[in-house]
Amino acid sequence: MKTDTPQTIYLKDYTPPAYLVDTVDLDFSIESGGTVVTSTLAMRRNPLVSARPLVLDGEELETLDVTVDGAKVPFLASASSLTVDHLPDAFTLRTVVRIKPDGNTRLSGMYRSKDGYFTQCEAQGFRRITWFLDRPDVMSTYTVTLHADKATYPILLANGNPVANGEEANGRHWAKWADPFRKPAYLFALVAGKLDGLFDTFTTASGRTVQLAIYVEPGKLDQCPHAMAALQKSMLWDEERFGLECDLDHYMIVAVGDFNMGAMENKGLNIFNTKYVLARADVATDVDFENIDRVVAHEYFHNWTGNRVTCRDWFQLSLKEGLTVFRDQEFGADLHNRQTARIREVRGLRAAQFPEDAGPMAHPIRPASFVEINNFYTATVYEKGAEVIRMIQTLIGRDAFRAGMDEYFRRHDGQAVTCEDFVAAMAAASGFDFTQFMRWYNQPGTPRVAVDGHFDEETKTFTLTCTQANPRASDESPYLIPLRVALFAADGNLLPGSERLLQLTATTQSFVFENIAVEPVPSLLRDFSAPVYLDFDYTPEQLTVLLAHESDPFNAWEAGQRLATQLILDAAAAIAAGQEPVWPASFVDAARKLLQTQAGVGNFGGAAFVAEALTLPGETTLAELMSVVDPDALHAARNGLRRHLAEQLEGEFSGLYAGLTVNEPYAPSSEQAGRRALRNLCLAYLLELDTLSVRQLALQQFKTADNMTDQFAALAALANVNAADCPQREQALADFYAKWKNEALVVDKWLQAQSTSRRPDTLATVKALTAHPAFDIGNPNKIYALIRAFGANLVRFNAADGSGYAFIADQIIVLHDRNPQVASRLARCFDRWTKFDAGRQAHARRALERVRDHAGLSRDVLEVVTRALGAA
Ligand code: TRP
Ligand code: ZN
Repeated sequence: MKTDTPQTIYLKDYTPPAYLVDTVDLDFSIESGGTVVTSTLAMRRNPLVSARPLVLDGEELETLDVTVDGAKVPFLASASSLTVDHLPDAFTLRTVVRIKPDGNTRLSGMYRSKDGYFTQCEAQGFRRITWFLDRPDVMSTYTVTLHADKATYPILLANGNPVANGEEANGRHWAKWADPFRKPAYLFALVAGKLDGLFDTFTTASGRTVQLAIYVEPGKLDQCPHAMAALQKSMLWDEERFGLECDLDHYMIVAVGDFNMGAMENKGLNIFNTKYVLARADVATDVDFENIDRVVAHEYFHNWTGNRVTCRDWFQLSLKEGLTVFRDQEFGADLHNRQTARIREVRGLRAAQFPEDAGPMAHPIRPASFVEINNFYTATVYEKGAEVIRMIQTLIGRDAFRAGMDEYFRRHDGQAVTCEDFVAAMAAASGFDFTQFMRWYNQPGTPRVAVDGHFDEETKTFTLTCTQANPRASDESPYLIPLRVALFAADGNLLPGSERLLQLTATTQSFVFENIAVEPVPSLLRDFSAPVYLDFDYTPEQLTVLLAHESDPFNAWEAGQRLATQLILDAAAAIAAGQEPVWPASFVDAARKLLQTQAGVGNFGGAAFVAEALTLPGETTLAELMSVVDPDALHAARNGLRRHLAEQLEGEFSGLYAGLTVNEPYAPSSEQAGRRALRNLCLAYLLELDTLSVRQLALQQFKTADNMTDQFAALAALANVNAADCPQREQALADFYAKWKNEALVVDKWLQAQSTSRRPDTLATVKALTAHPAFDIGNPNKIYALIRAFGANLVRFNAADGSGYAFIADQIIVLHDRNPQVASRLARCFDRWTKFDAGRQAHARRALERVRDHAGLSRDVLEVVTRALGAA
């Protein structure tokens, strides 16, 4: 099976299915030696397609029986297909297969985890359960019967509504579920296990009652209320913002500790990584609580954007993912803090999606081809996809966007459609012409917009000339780029009437502002109105004006990031040339002003903003701006600036640290979270000074914190102390593990605090931890926390001696067969290897070739590694 040469699949080759499946009846007999799956499919020829043999998809199935209309038929079975010819126009196909969920380490299809059996079918896992037309444009109505030992698996769940259940011989029981909605196979799910349930209800706007349930590992019910509240809030929000009501009688969420991704929107039976369900103040951070809100919302929102209207084929993945991320972002912004939400979205986009779009795996939000679809669940499809949806809303306005959503559901409810169908509904509702805009769907690469400002005293005009380019695109035609701008006077006043939404449609284009008396400071790309690099030759003085006065919080933050970026890149160049970096007083003054504003005003919403503004751009983001990355110089420069700020602002940081304590009982509210974020940022800056008193302060916070946010912030800051000898660090790490070794998600934090540490001995620590009882190679969360997080540790992964590369290559080889999806995500650590010097490139190439040449390498990893090596 693994010896098949991987095939590239092209969007242009799409053809409709030759057969349709009207109803699916599945029977699962779960036993210790394996699970027998009996599938009864009511099928017919697709009247739109000429007669062809039936070819079903399958993977690792032991076929026990195949009949058509009750009679044995000749069939041709290979490892991945079952072909039957000479079929009537309509027939019943019955297959019986045995699968081995206990041996399924890929966590795709049906698999075993600690408390029972679970399934993951997106994108192509259903074929690992039974023979089927495993493609999203084949939609069917399902009934499912499960049989299992009652004492071991008391809970038996599948999509839809429970219709019957009963007892059987030998202590077994059964349950039958029926899902009234047609769905593609990727939305199928079942669960059989020993689980506790938290139950509640939601009453929809039209008065229907939906039964809600969250199932978790026994003993964890006290970590479920936050997720339940998030679900209820999501349901209400989708009614209010988009007029979308829940169509189900039962909405169930099941949490499982072994899961490849975040969560899965199976119709009426979501399956979640425990990471996005379980939370309690002492085990989850503010960020965890907020992520749970967003992921619960995301999966719920899929019920309309993904399930009611699904994808015609997997190239259209962003149709559901980009749109649903946009929806969960908007929900998160309404629920928490819209300003910092936008800042964090962009920070994430720049740290992950921009590098992806500049590297060997670059692809349009709608790829034109793929080898393994699992490799395209990416930051581009999800996060850039959400930016594309956001641009549509920016261009036509919120009301027209809502009308476009209504039109989309009016046209396509119950269908499997394309990205064009979505955009056409938006066009119909708004009258806007999206022809040029479609480029955003079809080209890879981050466009660059260079802006030049020209002030003319005579005519009292200010002219912005914008030039766009995207060297990664297949041709030079321009994008339609929405560019939000405003002009500010040198004293920081917004020039009245200067707020505009420019539409860039040509390669070079000028926009004139009239009646401008003195040279203004332009604020460009406000609210990050398009996912582009924006170049403008700002002076530090201009940026300081924007940082202090811009009313658009995103661009105020952006001005600070631009200032810091320039300083760090200049310092890195100086360090590389053997010189001392210089830090201008103006930057320290601007930072001091931010801290003082916060201290003086006591504005809670402001604390979250100040924390974002004083977080320097990350090394991965900065590395993209260097032609050849010198990770050591970059690291020294960024930390040099942190230390300089700590020295200059020690009084401010200490004062705020003391003043920002939260005195109310813990709540994951944005007000409290903002205070904690800023206070913990102060602690981390102070720890740059590495004095005994600050170490003790951090250890004190670690010991006395009544919540995980503060406890973990202290731990992470201590874990990052560089000094060879730091007993406070050792003590905190040891105490943390001793206290939390039975809380899997907290152990992940402990691993990650160590794998992301800047300490020179981090690789040695990570290697040692792979043999620690806390680590488990079978659990994706552990691999992500320890190994992938190390791969994202720019300075340590890119060690000059190649040791980081060799380590990750070893881990990919250990994992590629056991769990190809996770191994392939690890392989993505090498995306940017050609940005480094020749010495590092030689080491990286050797590591990549070693992986590529490994016998029987999984298709997932092979695609990533081949593309990486092809980029040189
Ligand atoms: N569709 C899911 C989401 O974004 C994610 C998903 C896709 C997934 N493929 C998966 C989850 C494989 C687990 C395993 O909501
Ligand atoms: Zn999704």
